[in-house]
Amino acid sequence: MTPVLSATNICAGYHSRKAVSNVSMVIPPAGVVTLIGANGAGKTTFLGALMGLLPSTGTILFQGEDITRASVHERVGMGMSLVSEKRDLFSSMSVEDNLVLGCYRRNRASSSSSLDEMYGRFPKLLERRHQEAGTLSGGERQMLAMGRALMAAPKLLMLDEPSLGLAPLIVQDIFRIVSELKSSGISILLVEQNARAALHVADHGCVMELGDVILQGPAKELLDNTRLMEIYLGSAA
Ligand SMILES: Nc1ncnc2c1ncn2[C@@H]1O[C@H](COP(=O)(O)OP(=O)(O)O)[C@@H](O)[C@H]1O
Ligand SMILES: [Mg+2]
Repeated sequence: MTPVLSATNICAGYHSRKAVSNVSMVIPPAGVVTLIGANGAGKTTFLGALMGLLPSTGTILFQGEDITRASVHERVGMGMSLVSEKRDLFSSMSVEDNLVLGCYRRNRASSSSSLDEMYGRFPKLLERRHQEAGTLSGGERQMLAMGRALMAAPKLLMLDEPSLGLAPLIVQDIFRIVSELKSSGISILLVEQNARAALHVADHGCVMELGDVILQGPAKELLDNTRLMEIYLGSAA
């Protein structure tokens, strides 16, 4: 089966400072790959390079097609979607308008059926559909950002620290949604600092340190790796 994404030797940085060096990653269809690592490891930079938001070197194939030189716009059109750390919502617009904006490139009929689907997946958003996005709680904002990304019916959803700053119960919700999305056939690249929870929903894990992937393997094996648990999971392990 052709991977959804296959990135080889990706290097990216800021000015002349390298933040990601020679990172390679393969994401299979309907697979969840998690990229874990401490603050500043280069995770967000890597996502930016995949999405075409930052200049990078290396090769990126999306469903077998070389997109190394494709624009952000083209990557979105092909089915890549990124929910950034900042969630990037339109605060003074309603929840529903934020969702509808997520599928601006699709027709009206498919947009209303996707809206129904999003409200089914995120019932809180239905309750709050007419409320301004800026008045939502942190968890609701994350749900809205994910819902908006899903409105474009992506083949690959990239989530940058979706659980960051959220209360434990909401975090559970987010991870539950990630595993539901996986069952629905979407491939997911999940960037997380919550390593244990991320490895529990993922098939494959990559550990990043100072711009390098220093360890990767099946998620179950990483969970059983005592050294990794000590370093990345601290006392919580
Ligand atoms: N806009 C930027 N300009 C310059 N350096 C940056 C910028 N964003 C991130 N960096 C640096 O790049 C490195 C990787 O950062 P980042 O990709 O945000 O890590 P992570 O997402 O793993 O926390 C860090 O050393 C960070 O300070
Ligand atoms: Mg980051």
